[in-house]
Amino acid sequence: MGLSYSTMAIVKLAFAAWFLAWLSRLVYDLIVPSFTKKQKPIPPETSKFIQDQRRVANFGFLPDKSLENRLIARAIPNERLVEVYGIDNSFTTTSATAYRRFLSGVKRILPNSKTENWPRFFEAASTAFGLTLDQLSNTRGSLPLAAFVRQLVFLTTLYSFFDVNPEDVNLEDVGVATIAINDLWVYSKTDTSPEILQASRTQLKGALRRILPNRSTTDNPLNIIIPAYETMWRVVLLTYITAGFRDVDQDTADQFRQVVQGVPECFERGSSDNVATMAMNFSKEGLRLYPPTRRIYRDFDGEQQTADILQCHRDPAIWRDPERFRPGRFAPGEFTADMKRAYLPFSIEPHKCPAADRFAPHVIVILVVILAKGLGTLESGAEVRFGDEELDRDRSAVLPSGRLDTEEWTLRVRKKNV
Ligand code: HEM
Repeated sequence: MGLSYSTMAIVKLAFAAWFLAWLSRLVYDLIVPSFTKKQKPIPPETSKFIQDQRRVANFGFLPDKSLENRLIARAIPNERLVEVYGIDNSFTTTSATAYRRFLSGVKRILPNSKTENWPRFFEAASTAFGLTLDQLSNTRGSLPLAAFVRQLVFLTTLYSFFDVNPEDVNLEDVGVATIAINDLWVYSKTDTSPEILQASRTQLKGALRRILPNRSTTDNPLNIIIPAYETMWRVVLLTYITAGFRDVDQDTADQFRQVVQGVPECFERGSSDNVATMAMNFSKEGLRLYPPTRRIYRDFDGEQQTADILQCHRDPAIWRDPERFRPGRFAPGEFTADMKRAYLPFSIEPHKCPAADRFAPHVIVILVVILAKGLGTLESGAEVRFGDEELDRDRSAVLPSGRLDTEEWTLRVRKKNV
């Protein structure tokens, strides 16, 4: 008797599960195409352009797509990173064993409690924010934004990947390290004398040794810091400034208020939470408009290939008003199959970034929220100066996002009604 009751219960449960799955499939099939069908087909030349960029990113152009060949095609354009930072990681190695070892190390760290416990991360990042603010506020109350965000992101990278608490770090060293990393990146692309390069390298090495004294000298922390921190700081800065100080539509402004209020608690409620989805869309839109990897380079058998990610993200045949910051475009029903194909901030398989789906978008929006809460927004009376007449005058002008474009940006906290 007992057996037949439990069998009945299992059958009912199985039926309920099947019915739910069938219903959601039906809703998906009926609703989603009704939105996507409205989309105008994109011109064939745009479709071909996107396909060509994807073929560079996924190494589809290689006659033999073995892992060894893919690594060679990526390592050659990244040689300058080896030269300036002395790094040896997934991006620079041609050894399949070294590649797998590095990637599995990153994949082991990414889902741990330092990286996925968002309220704890928020707390550590807020501490990093307070320390950085104390250090960088000058007497006139004008804050150098790029230097500020670099230090904040650097400290949170140390926290996530090296288990270092922000209070335990000397901020002078963080200043030296972030400036040297930036200078070396610029030098790697320009004709700089070996003496200048060497001076920056020595400063960077010294600062890192003081920040991470227990690290083995053969294990270069820049192997992680470069892919994790270098990609992140500019997109955090640009997303914060765009959402907080530039012209956005009313929906986006309302959503930003909800995101600032709801992060990080919304992430505890799971990915189906409405505010959590909005928050992730802010990161996605920041990454679309300001992709940290604007171009992906490959080089094989003397043949160079470039995927123009920035162009994919701003093509008007795919994105409506591509230069407008509008996270709502990622909402289901509006986000089309063509946009999905053209959206490549983290590249695509087989070498898609392991931080793409969770770590990077969570961290970006958490840091944007900390900046909005701590430094303010236009609405709260804060003011940004771009050191550029047009950007200062016209809040609808798209922000430049090159490495040196943000250096003059400053923020002044202005008391309301004063
Ligand atoms: C906004 C943040 C980030 C962006 C935009 C980004 C972007 C990218 C891109 C475009 C690639 C493909 C590179 C290529 O094939 O040439 C990549 C790969 C990779 N990224 Fe990220 N990344 C970000 C954050 C991170 C973080 C936090 C880590 C952690 C250490 C990381 C680790 C890696 C690794 C190990 C790969 C190589 C994957 C493979 O070859 O299979 N990235 N990333």
